Amino acid sequence: MIRGRILFSNVWIDVRHDYFTTLVFRHSREWPKRAAFCYDEWQVISMFFTCISIAPLVAFVNTLAISSNTRQNDHNLATLYGIVIKHMEEAPNKKPVFDMGIATSEAFRGDSAFDAVKEIYGNSAPLFASIIRSKFPVTEKEYALIDVGSYKGELLSDILKLLPEYHFNITVSDTNSDAIAHNTVSGKHVVADAESLPFDDASIDIVAMRYVLQFNLFEVQKKIISEISRVTKGIAIVQHGGADDIDTDLWREKVDKIFRNDTLPQIKRNGMFWSSASEIEDFMRTSNIKFEKVLSKKISGMSQAFIERYSLNNEQVELIKKIMGDKDYLIQTTWLIHPKETIRNS
Ligand SMILES: C[S@@+](CC[C@H](N)C(=O)[O-])C[C@H]1O[C@@H](n2cnc3c(N)ncnc32)[C@H](O)[C@@H]1O
Repeated sequence: MIRGRILFSNVWIDVRHDYFTTLVFRHSREWPKRAAFCYDEWQVISMFFTCISIAPLVAFVNTLAISSNTRQNDHNLATLYGIVIKHMEEAPNKKPVFDMGIATSEAFRGDSAFDAVKEIYGNSAPLFASIIRSKFPVTEKEYALIDVGSYKGELLSDILKLLPEYHFNITVSDTNSDAIAHNTVSGKHVVADAESLPFDDASIDIVAMRYVLQFNLFEVQKKIISEISRVTKGIAIVQHGGADDIDTDLWREKVDKIFRNDTLPQIKRNGMFWSSASEIEDFMRTSNIKFEKVLSKKISGMSQAFIERYSLNNEQVELIKKIMGDKDYLIQTTWLIHPKETIRNS
């Protein structure tokens, strides 16, 4: 039995496949925890046509094998399935759910003894709130607001506290279903990947997204930005913590050394890409996504955020500081991204 998942119109379809049957048995909006394969609908369609075209050859070879030595053929099939199942056991999650650390909720609110942590997280809510206030009049009408990669809603709840006079129709979304289940800001929970948001074009007045991009490879970051621009009707506020525009590769090399380090198991992970502001802006320009840069800030002491959130021990702290050296900072950039309809070159 081989288990896999197919992404079809934003819904994962679980598939079980044995020698003779393929059984579709369940669907969910969650990312697969473990599966032999994860395909999207286009991959399935292309495989289907490939299978049709090579089917006569496979049938011929199988007939030869079966007629010459049935037992051997069974053995070969069993070996093949054994290999696939082993591959399945080892298959990495297509979309890992990253551990955000122990002291995460406090840190995400900027509630910390460390200046760097306060600056990285604590100044966002006033900035997001002031942007919303400057762009949207207070009315009786509810504004549709989505927090993408909301985690447990720490940032969003702080933004809302600063905007008591507004009415919002709020949705929170994240790939992390556990975090979303603990998100009390809104009852509208959507477990979804930002690269494929289950919302209509130009349906959301305000999209908020902070510190989500770097958890995704650059190709995915591009899709996320395109999705945000697609669903936005009013404005998207995107805040990103990433690489420096100067010495980008050197900065990234150091940060990668931390996230791929065996002696730092708490933060070891793959699939991250710390893009720089210019890399993202170049993409938006070439894709005709209209944006404005609101703010760009160099925040010193990036390592403090990891030290606090993951309760690292002294040796680990020393190691991080040694690796980062004079590059222990991040560049925080905030953009307003405009809807696709108003596309113009920025
Ligand atoms: C550092 S946390 C930030 C949480 C919150 N936005 C804040 O700033 O307080 C990053 C969050 O983004 C989520 N995330 C990362 N990649 C995502 C993706 N492709 N789609 C949806 N959520 C994603 C993670 O699961 C995590 O909850």
